[in-house]
Amino acid sequence: MKKIKASIKGVHGYVPDYVLTNAELETMVDTNDEWITSRTGIKERRILKGENAGASLMMVKAVQGLLEKTNTNPVDIDMVICCTSTPDLVFPATANIVGTQVGAVNAFGYDIQAACSGFLYGLVTGSQFIESGRFKKVLVIGGDKMSSIIDYKDRATCIIFGDGAGAVLLEGNEEDNGLIDFWLRSDGGGEPYLHMLAGGSRKPASHETVDKKEHFVYQDGKTVFKFAVTNMAYAAEQVMKRNELKAEDVAYLIPHQANKRIIDATAKSMGIEDEDKILMNIEKYGNTTNGTIPLLLWDFENKFKKGDNLILAAFGGGFTWGAAYLKWAY
Ligand code: UT7
Repeated sequence: MKKIKASIKGVHGYVPDYVLTNAELETMVDTNDEWITSRTGIKERRILKGENAGASLMMVKAVQGLLEKTNTNPVDIDMVICCTSTPDLVFPATANIVGTQVGAVNAFGYDIQAACSGFLYGLVTGSQFIESGRFKKVLVIGGDKMSSIIDYKDRATCIIFGDGAGAVLLEGNEEDNGLIDFWLRSDGGGEPYLHMLAGGSRKPASHETVDKKEHFVYQDGKTVFKFAVTNMAYAAEQVMKRNELKAEDVAYLIPHQANKRIIDATAKSMGIEDEDKILMNIEKYGNTTNGTIPLLLWDFENKFKKGDNLILAAFGGGFTWGAAYLKWAY
């Protein structure tokens, strides 16, 4: 019997309407468009407004669009994996909230928390259930409402992050298209450089944690930058080497959108010089954490051809990082 590969059968995304421009940020913190653009490549990001609007709101919209465009009945979904660092609640899992709202009544689901590498981890995890033959349809969702954990008085972080979500439908493929290989790593030694200190079991919410602004993202940008450049490139190189891929064999690099300079450095060490192969949308969404890779797939879906070799690569808090090689299936 031919081995089943797990392939993406469709992708859809959702970003909120509100556009937070560099110009507006200039009125909020001591920064300027020139600095933000040259250091990060970001021009604007989307912000989810509204009371009681959690990350699940964007995920539900992304999944509803995905089900419609792939003509999928939600009762046929076997599993919902939700990759997020900004769940609606600490528990229950946001996967349950989303699954129920989209009508995936025969599925089970859970969340994956791996910061900016979460979607990559989720894609690999969901693929195992398809490859084993256990499940036929798996939803992998990546999204974050980063604005809920950002201090808009901290110029080191507020210029970077945005809100958004994307989702893919995984199904079996017998034509050798789909997930071919992956290389994932994590290192808890990264905790001091990128974290949100309070709100977990170590430091539950208190007046003190609020006063100390410990419910916001802290990032030592310079250190994270160095690790990100080295490790994202290394992961992508490993996947290429193991599969004997040369730069010319790669149709597109789909990198986590944290910083244009990190993306350029990753592409360079992979030997990819053709700018058309390096996909980016950081200028319009900023860093949406778990949302960046599915939003990229959504934005550039029309460019992909069946059999195209795509390399996905990410780096995030934890530290977490990795790369995946997949052949586009449609
Ligand atoms: O997605 C998860 C993983 N995260 C990442 O991969 C992010 C990695 N890090 C980065 O992308 C970059 O480190 C940042 C974009 C966060 C910062 O860029 P940088 O080139 O590392 O800047 P820096 O922190 O070294 O700061 C350089 C200068 C400093 O001034 P002095 O000390 O040289 O006078 C900062 O105070 O720029 C100043 N600065 C700013 N100026 C204007 C820092 N933030 C700003 C700002 N506007 N927003």
